[in-house]
Amino acid sequence: MRVLAVNATYRPGKTTSRLAGKALEGAASLGAQTEMVHLKELDIGFCTNCLTCYQDQESEIADCVLTDDVRGVLEKIRKADGVILASPVHNGFVSGLMTAFVERATWTTLKPTGEMMGLKGCPEPRLTGKARAVATLVSAGMMPAELRQYCDTGSPWLMEAGVMICNGSPVGDMYAGAVFPRELNDDEWRRAYFFREITEAQDREAFELGQAMAQAIAGGQVKPYDPMAMMAALEEGKE
Ligand SMILES: Cc1cc2nc3c(=O)[nH]c(=O)nc-3n(C[C@H](O)[C@H](O)[C@H](O)COP(=O)(O)O)c2cc1C
Repeated sequence: MRVLAVNATYRPGKTTSRLAGKALEGAASLGAQTEMVHLKELDIGFCTNCLTCYQDQESEIADCVLTDDVRGVLEKIRKADGVILASPVHNGFVSGLMTAFVERATWTTLKPTGEMMGLKGCPEPRLTGKARAVATLVSAGMMPAELRQYCDTGSPWLMEAGVMICNGSPVGDMYAGAVFPRELNDDEWRRAYFFREITEAQDREAFELGQAMAQAIAGGQVKPYDPMAMMAALEEGKE
């Protein structure tokens, strides 16, 4: 069983990396072989909208005109049984690096042959050799967990993209809200990101997310991408 974390932090080794690392430890504790990819350390170019990949409706991973490191990450996703997509919360969303990666993964791992609600040309997974478990993990610097709804439009978007790219189903999403060691004064609030701490509870939650992923994989609970199930889950999340 292989579990891969794709981490789009700009600061490898800090908050998002630590929590994604804990999630991998959780998966490893149940026998998974784990790996973390830091996109920041790779060459990840912007999609040029040349549509080379979009026109290829055969390949499992369509060719891209850019010869950078994206292909290598997609090959790792192909081999993985579970994928954790990790990012800091930036502007209430995910990082630009994650968005850039998802754009590049879109028509290289999806083909426009799907149909949904009578609409043709929808994305359909190419990586259909197996179903993969998908989890998201985002870390915030100022917004606490109880106000997540105001600062986390990224997680549902990332999960929707993730289950398509990975041809899989969701196993969990973690929002690591900002926690501070004490009451901050007004001046400190203006520098709140510097005071944010990772709590033991967050470490544990991340560890358990990784364990839940390993259990879902081992228990055969991971299903291939199903657009209608995904839409129903998103609708449920809005209520
Ligand atoms: C450009 C930028 C935008 C950010 N936007 C938010 C935000 O909307 N809400 C929030 O709580 N924190 C925000 N933060 C803080 C980061 O989410 C926080 O520092 C995060 O834990 C960083 O993860 P890292 O340690 O992996 O870099 C932002 C940080 C940056 C640099």
